[in-house]
Amino acid sequence: MKATKMVSVNNVSFGFDDSRQKIIDNVSFVARKGQFICIMGPSGCGKSTMLRIIAGLVKPSSGKVYYMDREVTEPTVGMSFVFQDFALLPWLTNIENIKLGLSLINISAEEKTKRAQALLEKFGLFGFGDYYPNVLSGGMKQRVGIARAIVSEPQVLLMDEPFSALDDLTANTLRSDITYMLQDKNISVNSVIMVTHNVEEAVELANKIVILSNKPAHIKEIIHINSKAPRNKRSEEFTSIVDRIYAALAK
Ligand SMILES: Nc1ncnc2c1ncn2[C@@H]1O[C@H](COP(=O)(O)OP(=O)(O)OP(=O)(O)O)[C@@H](O)[C@H]1O
Ligand SMILES: [Mg+2]
Repeated sequence: MKATKMVSVNNVSFGFDDSRQKIIDNVSFVARKGQFICIMGPSGCGKSTMLRIIAGLVKPSSGKVYYMDREVTEPTVGMSFVFQDFALLPWLTNIENIKLGLSLINISAEEKTKRAQALLEKFGLFGFGDYYPNVLSGGMKQRVGIARAIVSEPQVLLMDEPFSALDDLTANTLRSDITYMLQDKNISVNSVIMVTHNVEEAVELANKIVILSNKPAHIKEIIHINSKAPRNKRSEEFTSIVDRIYAALAK
């Protein structure tokens, strides 16, 4: 039996109101429980727009997105977003930034602080709660960004190039944190949809890679990877999938 459908993208098309140009052209795919999906494609093809549509931040011109069996028409507590530029508010402390992720959740202020504090510690940021984001390194800022996203205990994590602003070493650490987080039974997230330009990152982490064409974006190819993540970059499987993605992107 196939795992539960967490997100279904059904025949989604999109164009901005003020331009007749189509950005996304009839895209459909499914994210199931346990899956890590990467969306790839040329710059400007509509990947971020696609992710925002899934998050309920942008409405599709036609087609529908479902979170489980509910149509997505606005941001929902079951899905959270991680931004490329971290998007922390500089006038709030780190703990307050994490608590922003709880604004739609109806729990007491003490409970909010407790949950945010627990994640701060889990993410190696003990003692930084009362400081402002400007004292943090890029990797620490993105940890706060991820903590803010998961503090509401979402099942689906949507990430738009979350590691691209970080140096290689920091990005690597965060990638393995994310992989182990998905395997951690105490963390609610059970599927991830991530936009990335980094082919190796996609092959390291994803079970399914959705490759989009130039604008208007349609699906060129969907590549499934069955072995367990994170994958060994020196394996034959790894390099052959990397080659396949480059070929699909260049087609
Ligand atoms: N408000 C807007 N009105 C009209 N066109 C827009 C608007 N915002 C974005 N676009 C266009 O929509 C297209 C898709 O943008 P989007 O940010 O989704 O691309 P992307 O694939 O995420 O790009 P990148 O890889 O550079 O992050 C781009 O060509 C952009 O110029
Ligand atoms: Mg983008």
